[in-house]
Amino acid sequence: MEIIIQPDAAAANALAARLFAKLIRKKEKCVLGMATGSTPLALYRELIAMDLDWRKVTTFNLDEYVGLAPEHLQSYHRFMWENLFRRVNIAKKNIHIPDGLAKGIPVFCAKYEKQIRAAGGIDLQLLGIGTDGHIGFNEPTSSLTSRTRIKTLTPQTRKDNARFFGSEDAVPHHVITMGIGTIMEARHCVLLAFGKNKARAIAEAVEGPITAMNPASALQMHSKVTVFLDEAAASKLKLTAYYRWVYDSKPDWQKI
Ligand code: GLP
Repeated sequence: MEIIIQPDAAAANALAARLFAKLIRKKEKCVLGMATGSTPLALYRELIAMDLDWRKVTTFNLDEYVGLAPEHLQSYHRFMWENLFRRVNIAKKNIHIPDGLAKGIPVFCAKYEKQIRAAGGIDLQLLGIGTDGHIGFNEPTSSLTSRTRIKTLTPQTRKDNARFFGSEDAVPHHVITMGIGTIMEARHCVLLAFGKNKARAIAEAVEGPITAMNPASALQMHSKVTVFLDEAAASKLKLTAYYRWVYDSKPDWQKI
């Protein structure tokens, strides 16, 4: 894992955006894994401002709430269209987001996995992290080899996400999420975390034991992960001086 600590979220987002832009420019038909939540918003704004050519880019989103129609204000379909897709020249046919209204969820999930494989796999997967360590919506105790499937949200996640829905009662109980095994097959994973409320989850994911109690800790087994943090999210890490040294001493060819 590469841990990049920046003075604030804006600096971290600008760097992460460069990573995405580099890939989009270099690989015409790249496949991106997209994330939702408040964390990736500034990164999406950066990418929009870069005026990249998205015509041949394919995307797969991590997750969606079960029961929410694409036009629902809090659906991740709506989130992606509002915050990224309608502002870039991506082709609609290349966008994939789990269908919250799918009738046969297991069949839908198997098809989603197949579509990822048919696209050649995900080149770059963007991830946020829940306060409980979830990635996508893989809640604690998720199998570390899980595939796309239905999951039940924990009370903590429903509470965390109530801010988007107005009340906790309005937050769906079920979601469809890429599995941890699915995420682990992406060729490069980029994890973003900002703010003090992510510090514990990050410390456990990066420096704790690999455990289903912190699903993001599975990323320790991935060969290419870049973690972008602000000072607050990095505040509970033990080896910060080392991470800063590694980053500051990078040879030019390794710089983002
Ligand atoms: C959400 C999403 C995750 C996201 C996480 C953190 O519920 N399913 O993909 O990374 O929880 O959300 P936020 O970025 O709003 O803190």
